[in-house]
Parts: sequence; structure tokens; C-alpha cells
Amino acid sequence: MKLGRLNHIGVATPSIADSIIFYRDVMGATQISEPFDLPDQGVKVCFVDTPTADGALNGTQIELVEPLPGNTSIAGFLEKNPAGGQHHLCYEVPDIHVAKAEFEAMGKRVLGDPRIGAHGTLIFFVHPKDMGGILTEIMETPKGDH
Ligand code: CO
Repeated sequence: MKLGRLNHIGVATPSIADSIIFYRDVMGATQISEPFDLPDQGVKVCFVDTPTADGALNGTQIELVEPLPGNTSIAGFLEKNPAGGQHHLCYEVPDIHVAKAEFEAMGKRVLGDPRIGAHGTLIFFVHPKDMGGILTEIMETPKGDH
């Protein structure tokens, strides 16, 4: 497994609109994307950029995730955590198919086939029970990204 950068931390929220206000007014975030729907995954998402050490706004992101009607997984998480909370971590890898094969060779449960994620590149999730209790998203590094 070739570990890439921590791309984002997924945070489930009952209201992206309320979370945007929190990240802007309490945390001082200055770059927050417009929320958009990912109907295939049953969620609405929004990215909050954090700065790198040199102040550039291309550091690790917070991915705000709100369930769309009919969603069960995020909705179930919010039933247990009504205020929302940390939901998953997402690491980049250079090649999604190589990473999937490596995880499976190690006996890790990959949840479904690679599919297009919120950044427009292929992603998959690995079962939290095989990952130290953390739902883990693996994402192919966007082409042309640093
Ligand atoms: Co994610």
C-alpha cells in the first residue's frame, strides 16, 4: 500500500448550511465550496479548505456530508450522533485499482467497486472493522494535482 496525503476528513452533519456557518464563523474558514448533490451516493457534500503551512488553501479538506432523502448509511450515523461528527478519513493513492487489490490481498473488506467520488476521481471505502475502527476512503489522486 502506497500511502498518499490525507485528502479530507469526512464529517457527517444534519445540516450543511449550519455547518458552513460554524466553519466560517467559529473556525475562520475562508474558502468553502458550494454544496452539491452526489445522488449516486445519496448525499449532499461541501468542502471546507484548510491552509497548508505556507498559507495556500490547498491543504486537507473537511468534507461535510448530509444525507439526501432515502439515504440509510449517513442517516443511520446521524441517528447515533444527532449533532453529527467525524465519519471517515480519506487518503490519496496513485492507482485506485492497485490499492484495491492490495487491501483485498491483506484481507480488508473493500465496500463495492471503485466509483466516482466527490472530487471526480475514483474512490472506494474500506470497512471500519478492518481499519482500526475508522471508515476509510481511498481516492485516486486527481491528475495534474500536486
Ligand atoms: Co469522503
